[in-house]
Amino acid sequence: MTATSLLGEIADVGRDRKRGGYSRHAFDQAEGELRTWFVERAQRLSLDVETDRNGNIWAWWGTPGPDAVVTGSHLDSVPGGGAFDGPLGVVSALDAVEILQAKGFRPGKPFAVVVFAEEEGGRFGVPCLGSRLLTGTIDADKARALKDPDGITFAEASAKAGHDPERFGADPEALGRIGRFLELHVEQGRGLIDLGSPVAVGDTVIAHGRWRFSFSGQGNHAGATLIGDRHDPMLPAAAVVGAARRVAKATGDGRATVGRLVPTPGGTNVIASTVDLWLDARVPGGDRTRALVAELSALAKEAAAEEGCLVEIAEESYSDTVTFDAKLRDDLGKWLGGAPELPTGAGHDAGILAGFVPAGMLYVRNPTGVSHAPEEFAEAEDVDHGARALATVLEHMST
Ligand code: GLV
Ligand code: MN
Ligand code: MN
Ligand code: MN
Repeated sequence: MTATSLLGEIADVGRDRKRGGYSRHAFDQAEGELRTWFVERAQRLSLDVETDRNGNIWAWWGTPGPDAVVTGSHLDSVPGGGAFDGPLGVVSALDAVEILQAKGFRPGKPFAVVVFAEEEGGRFGVPCLGSRLLTGTIDADKARALKDPDGITFAEASAKAGHDPERFGADPEALGRIGRFLELHVEQGRGLIDLGSPVAVGDTVIAHGRWRFSFSGQGNHAGATLIGDRHDPMLPAAAVVGAARRVAKATGDGRATVGRLVPTPGGTNVIASTVDLWLDARVPGGDRTRALVAELSALAKEAAAEEGCLVEIAEESYSDTVTFDAKLRDDLGKWLGGAPELPTGAGHDAGILAGFVPAGMLYVRNPTGVSHAPEEFAEAEDVDHGARALATVLEHMST
C-alpha cells in the first residue's frame, strides 16, 4: 500500500455534503470509523495497538519502551476541511513502516505510530487536546468540561466512544517512552511552491491562541425597536471583526481571524441577545500575540459599552512560539539531501510535544497553497515522495 492508496481507502469517510470537504470530529462517527480503519491497517503490518488514557492510539512495531522513535499525526479535521491535514501524516507513517519492513529493516529502538485525538479543536474548541492532556499542558478537569456546539462535554463524548474520561490527564509513562517525535504534514501555505521542493523540514511554529468574546445585550424585535433604543451585541462583535484585520495588518506579519460567530437566538427579524465570537490570533513572538489580543480586548470593551452591552473575554488556548529541535532539524536536512527549512503558521501536536521531547516536522508540498478547506491538496507523486522521505529518516532515527 502506498500513502496515496491509503488516502484513497478513507476518501469517503466523513465527507461533509453541506460544507464540502470533510468534517471528522473527535469521537464522532466519522472519526471513529477512521480509528477502526487505522487499527486494522496497523495490525496488518503486525503492529501492536493500544489506546492511551487520553484516547491517543499507539501502534508499536516491536516492544514498547523508552527512547522510542515515534511518528504520526491526527485523523480529525476542521469543519469542512481538506483530505490531507492530519491523515497525510498517519498514512505516510503506515507506508513508511511498510517500506522499511519490505526491505527487511528492523528498528534498533522502540518504534511507534501514533494518532492523536482532537488535534484541530474542531469539536471541543481546544486544539491538540490529546497531546496537551498527555503532556499535562491542559488540566484534565478543564478538558473534561469542554463542550461541543451541541452542549455535549468532552467527557460525555469520549465516554460514549468507549474511553474512560476519569483517566484523562498527564501520562508520564506514555510521554517518558518518547525519545524523538516526528510528524509529517501537508504544507498549509505557499512555502513549498515558492521553494520548488516537494518536502521541507519544519523550523518554527508561530505563537498562537484562541479567545472567546461573549457579548450580551437585549434581544428584541427588529421592526418595533427604534435604533436609539437598541443594545445589539452584533455591533461590538462586528467592530472586533473589522479591528482584527486592521490590528493584524498593522503588525506587518501577524494574523487575526474571526472564523466563527454565533448570534443567539439567530433570527433574521430578531436583534440578538448574545453574540459569541472566537478570535484566532497568531503573531511571531508570544508578547506580540498577547499585545494584539490586549488591543482587541480593549476595543471590544469600548464598543460594547458604547452600545450598552457587556463583554466577557476568555482565553481558550494558547501556545507560545516553538522552535523544533536543532539537532533533529540538521539531521533531517542532511538525511534528505538538503531539504529546505520552513516556518509555519499552523499549530501541531509536534509543537506541543516539542516542549518535552526533541520533536520535528516534515512538510509535503501543497500546490494550491490552501488548507483547512476542500481545496487543500498534494499531488500523488509528492505524497509518495513524502512517505519515502519519512521512511528514510525513520530508518536513520531508529537504527
Ligand atoms: C491547526 O491546524 C491550526 O489551526 O493551527
Ligand atoms: Mn506501501
Ligand atoms: Mn489543521
Ligand atoms: Mn494538522
